Amino acid sequence: MASRDLEEGSSLMPESITITDNRTGESMEIPIEDRGVAASAWSKLLPGIWFYDPGFTVTAACQSSISYVDGDAGVLLYRGYPIEQLAEHSTYLEVAYLLLNAELPTAHQFDGWRGEITHHTFIHENVRKRFLDGFHYDAHPMGMLVSAVAALSTFYSDAKDIFDTDSRNKQVLRLIAKMPTLAAAAHRFSVGMPFVYPDNTLEFAANFLSMMWKVAEPHFEVDPVLTHALDVLFILHADHEQNCSTTAMRVVGSAHADPYSACAAACAALYGPRHGGANEAVVRMLTQIGSLDNVDGFVAAVKQGQCRLQGFGHRVYKNYDPRAKIVKREAEAVFAVTGKNPLLDVALKLEEVALSDEYFISRRLYPNVDFYSGLIYQAMGFPIDMFPVLFAIPRTAGWLAHWVELLAQGQRIARPRQLYVGESERPYVPIGERLG
Ligand code: ACO
Repeated sequence: MASRDLEEGSSLMPESITITDNRTGESMEIPIEDRGVAASAWSKLLPGIWFYDPGFTVTAACQSSISYVDGDAGVLLYRGYPIEQLAEHSTYLEVAYLLLNAELPTAHQFDGWRGEITHHTFIHENVRKRFLDGFHYDAHPMGMLVSAVAALSTFYSDAKDIFDTDSRNKQVLRLIAKMPTLAAAAHRFSVGMPFVYPDNTLEFAANFLSMMWKVAEPHFEVDPVLTHALDVLFILHADHEQNCSTTAMRVVGSAHADPYSACAAACAALYGPRHGGANEAVVRMLTQIGSLDNVDGFVAAVKQGQCRLQGFGHRVYKNYDPRAKIVKREAEAVFAVTGKNPLLDVALKLEEVALSDEYFISRRLYPNVDFYSGLIYQAMGFPIDMFPVLFAIPRTAGWLAHWVELLAQGQRIARPRQLYVGESERPYVPIGERLG
């Protein structure tokens, strides 16, 4: 039994919950702090009673001050700064600094940070020769990335000194800097193109594009509009509180694994189509719909439960995902350079139909970040296999910010409990006596 105990007339009075164990009549009052109650408090009254919450839909597994999501209002803040303002005025590298250091850098701090990242963009030759070149010719670039990130831990034995601040900072720099190099290398290998070394005269996103697309020209000319759009997409994907991959990072990090191993686990989580693969599903869905004439029929099929409208709906956002609005705007700028992705008209019509349909309105289903991002990536020439890789590059900053935060918090090892629903104790049966 739980009751709310809010003193009338005083908005400043602390809220609390009273839990009564009806088996014993014992009660306990637990304060509601930061919109939650501490499990450590009520578990004293109810030892052995587990809070059953598969998928962690109502469980806060940590405290965090990195990003804030208000799903009802459609708000996303990084360290208090609205995502819209960061997308308009900042750069991915500045946002990475913000996520990791809690404050925007001064000009001097930013110069130092950018210089450090730039000096760590190269990967050890053996990462490429022994690991990346060892993959099968048609290896998926995300599978290669997961493995290559894990392999980095064997190149930097100092990474195990996770409580040494200098070592920790160095691994953070290395990971953020090397991610685009590994990502581009994985792509080049998967299409049989030679590896392109980083060009440290270029900014972060431009350098990545150079490593992706350079052929024989001495200096790759990047298009400023495409570079800017990619940098904005990197900002939008840099963090999103306790999503699946960040949770993987925190869980593995809580065991005090080195950051490369923890980051590889996070990458592996992102590889899953329910997480990092949704924009790919959007492109496939739009391709399948094919023309404006088929939109109404497709929406009808969605309403009958035959399929889902990919890129719509979100576990947390029950409003327009603020990132989706920015992506939609960037799409126009990109298409002005690349030519319009022919699937855009289908996407716009689909959004218009869905947003005025009672099925989607009543369930509060709005476009999420993935609805338009795949169209941009496709127009820029990225193969669909690269979509989760493009997500992993910027999310590395968020993963690392959470890793640094959990170590600073001295977080206990993640070790959830379970509701056991298997056999009760029974004696071993010798093989000859088992019934077939
Ligand atoms: N299309 C049609 N109906 C939907 C959709 C959708 N995209 N999403 C939810 N619904 C319906 C469900 O059928 C359900 O209806 P019901 O109440 O009649 O049974 C209701 O809305 C609630 O849906 P849930 O599945 O309970 O919502 P949940 O929060 O568990 O799922 C999710 C969120 C997985 C994102 C879901 O909306 C979905 O599958 N969307 C499509 C995939 C997608 O775009 N994923 C990207 C998410 S953003 C990211 O990961 C970066």
